[in-house]
Amino acid sequence: APLKITKILCIGAGYVGGPTCAVIALKCPHITVTIVDLNQARIDAWNSPDFNLPIYEPGLEDVVRQCRGRNLFFSTDVDKGIREAELIFVSVNTPTKKSGVGAGFAADLNYVELATRQIAAVATTSKIVVEKSTVPCRTAESMRTILEANSKPNCRFDILSNPEFLAEGTAIADLFQPDRVLIGSLQTREGKDACAALANVYSNWVPENKILTVGLWSSELSKLAANAMLAQRISSVNALSAICEATGANIDEVAHAVGYDSRVGPKFLKASVGFGGSCFQKDILNLVYLSESLHLPEVAAYWRQVVEMNEYQKRRFSKRVVDTLFNTITGKHIAVLGFAFKADTGDTRESASITLIRDFLSERAFVNIYDPKVIESQIWLDLSEACPNMSLESIKKQVKICNSAVEAALNTEAIVIATEWKEFKAVAWTEVYEHMKKPAFVFDGRLLVDADELTKIGFKVYPSFFFFGSVHSQFDKVATIGRPTA
Ligand code: UDX
Ligand code: UDX
Ligand code: ADP
Repeated sequence: APLKITKILCIGAGYVGGPTCAVIALKCPHITVTIVDLNQARIDAWNSPDFNLPIYEPGLEDVVRQCRGRNLFFSTDVDKGIREAELIFVSVNTPTKKSGVGAGFAADLNYVELATRQIAAVATTSKIVVEKSTVPCRTAESMRTILEANSKPNCRFDILSNPEFLAEGTAIADLFQPDRVLIGSLQTREGKDACAALANVYSNWVPENKILTVGLWSSELSKLAANAMLAQRISSVNALSAICEATGANIDEVAHAVGYDSRVGPKFLKASVGFGGSCFQKDILNLVYLSESLHLPEVAAYWRQVVEMNEYQKRRFSKRVVDTLFNTITGKHIAVLGFAFKADTGDTRESASITLIRDFLSERAFVNIYDPKVIESQIWLDLSEACPNMSLESIKKQVKICNSAVEAALNTEAIVIATEWKEFKAVAWTEVYEHMKKPAFVFDGRLLVDADELTKIGFKVYPSFFFFGSVHSQFDKVATIGRPTA
């Protein structure tokens, strides 16, 4: 019979491990949940008396307030945590490798391996070890090899894959009501028992029909596949947005019409300046690397194009800003609203905003940045990394971090909306307009604001085909090419 879990450990107190295990603690008061991390500052923040948590996520604080000190604990004592737990989630970071074989594509599994080795070294009783980080296929297999080669007598390890599908900004809602929970295991009796033990944890709040149990590799591949297909929708809609801007079609109208087809569905069809986040690019590059390793170059090229389209979209956007501002932004002032990779998060990993600002800085423009949640030190860190040939000192000469959208827009010639924060819709646009240089441009990288309303105030708004004189001649050209036989 499957084990009844009473003690869970989570290794890694980041964006995945933190919210996931906090919600498990909330929904399973009979289970003691401990979350450990090597990073003392991060653990201190999770434990802070005034709930100044290390990550911003709507609803998270409320969950932690209810459970912390009751059945939810944060600590840096990894060994003690391992000894006591029956089930261990491994949710450490798995960034893309920066050097060596597969650099730029393959996942760096160093953190996963170190955590796994530590489990093997410290455990004196049997454990269920759950792979929670997004990892390439067959990582579970490597974890199993490491654990089995290092285990003590009477100590067995069962490995499960249980990828997390939460999206940042909606993590708590996603965890409360997941579309599905996916658990992969070996199809042996022991593997299935371990799977049932974890399924029993989730069944405290997730309906049974949403808990899917599959083989280990299917589970690992499903996570990469889900993210690749979601990102592919965005790249598809972004590719169409380029056609729309050249013809006068409206991408929101097109996406709406396409999404009405129940086979397509309405979600994830918002054209943007490009997707960001810690998962999409990383997971697709993992898939590309996997395809290449399996000698499937056509498959690799297909998925690689999703990432290339995203790079193109960002490039196209910065070029449009420069072109529109009379072909030069040197010495001009640009306000960038939003630095996070999406709304309702303070996370900046792979944010399109970083790429745009890098491009503006390389054109020697001055940039005013405002984001409601991203902390200042993170912005300096990201810009330093994005501009390796600029010193932080010279970056700071060109960049100012502001406390509001209105402040950021002051005396600028253009506003760029890079993140879909709701509050940017409600900016006092008339006031902003008065304090900008004229003509005042708005480049809406999120199709967030009401372009007609802003145009009435006096702004020149992009994207809007009315505004580009060249549109009709471009369209004529397309029409001619399209009718060669007529
Ligand atoms: C994603 C997956 O959604 C989640 O299931 C997985 O577990 C982790 O990766 P996340 O990266 O947190 O989650 O956010 P998501 O909402 O998927 O957005 C990713 C990026 O795509 C953001 O930059 C977002 O602004 C952008 N996006 C999203 C669009 O540009 N258009 C859309 O229609 C949707
Ligand atoms: C399509 C569109 O569905 C329809 O809306 C449009 O008006 C005309 O083109 P049709 O070509 O008749 O319709 O058939 P459809 O059901 O879309 O299938 C097209 C092809 O895709 C078929 O060969 C079908 O077998 C294949 N297919 C479809 C798959 O291989 N897998 C699927 O999941 C769905
Ligand atoms: P994710 O978005 O996947 O959750 P994060 O980087 O936010 O990634 O979190 C991963 C966390 O895992 C980091 O806080 C890191 O310090 C922690 N970590 C990495 N390796 C170990 C380890 N061996 N033991 C404990 N914590 C670890």
